[in-house]
Amino acid sequence: MASQTTDRDAYTAANRAAWDHSAGHHRDNAEARRLREGFATPGFSCLDEVETETLNAVGVAGQSVAQICCNNARELLSVKNMGAGRCVGFDQSEPFLEQGRELAAIAGQEIELVAGDIYAIDRSWDRSFDVVLITIGVFGWMPDLAAFFAIVARLLNPGGHLVVHEEHPVMNMFEPEAERPFEPANDYFRSEPLLEEGVLVYDGKGDKEGNEHYWFFHTMGDVLTSVLEAGLTIERYAEYANNISTVEFDIYQNRATNMPMSYILVARR
Ligand SMILES: C[S@@+](CC[C@H](N)C(=O)[O-])C[C@H]1O[C@@H](n2cnc3c(N)ncnc32)[C@H](O)[C@@H]1O
Repeated sequence: MASQTTDRDAYTAANRAAWDHSAGHHRDNAEARRLREGFATPGFSCLDEVETETLNAVGVAGQSVAQICCNNARELLSVKNMGAGRCVGFDQSEPFLEQGRELAAIAGQEIELVAGDIYAIDRSWDRSFDVVLITIGVFGWMPDLAAFFAIVARLLNPGGHLVVHEEHPVMNMFEPEAERPFEPANDYFRSEPLLEEGVLVYDGKGDKEGNEHYWFFHTMGDVLTSVLEAGLTIERYAEYANNISTVEFDIYQNRATNMPMSYILVARR
């Protein structure tokens, strides 16, 4: 157990360094400008239709909301603009949280952004939230999914909801920049993390070397089982054929034969 924790700490430390190093690239690109302009308008939201509809169905108005791995808090601020009450974002990359604080100032909204490894989150946050939100590209950074969901469950008030909008793990099988991008390149059931290099960007622009980081494959079965083993009841699970990941993956959507590229999961404590 001790060595498992040491491995987990080493992976998360490497990933933190990679995200910190990438933060500057996200400050001055077209998306950053779009967010700064957007949040200057009251009520702005960057959430897509299916996420907005799901959050409305769960009901966020006046509710306390946490976002795990909130990055620059663009989604948390959108939820705040939907009328949520106390909003707290957790992420281990301080430079990204700093960008989130700037966006919050532009939006004129008060949110709390807490820096640290989610596996080491303080117990004082237990039972603090009506809704916990997890979106786009979080589970792949988690070396231990069961421990992760146990923490998520702890954060929820009894009766509270977990809302997940994630990349479908089937997409881990494909490498969009490979010579034959439609041939599966990775084993869906891979158990070792994938050691990757390059700046972490969403628009395909940036250095492809250095900045080593670790990506973990979790099957859909792993995700669903971890949610259930954390004591949560699954209320909704829906798969979608649209890409919510980085732009390189756009080649897999709107085809004659579609794959699941994203999903929504709602569970209740
Ligand atoms: C792909 S980003 C999330 C993007 C966000 N959903 C969005 O669309 O703007 C993943 C985030 O997870 C954070 N992260 C990765 N491992 C973490 C850990 N162990 N504890 C806390 N944050 C972590 C990274 O710092 C990064 O900001």
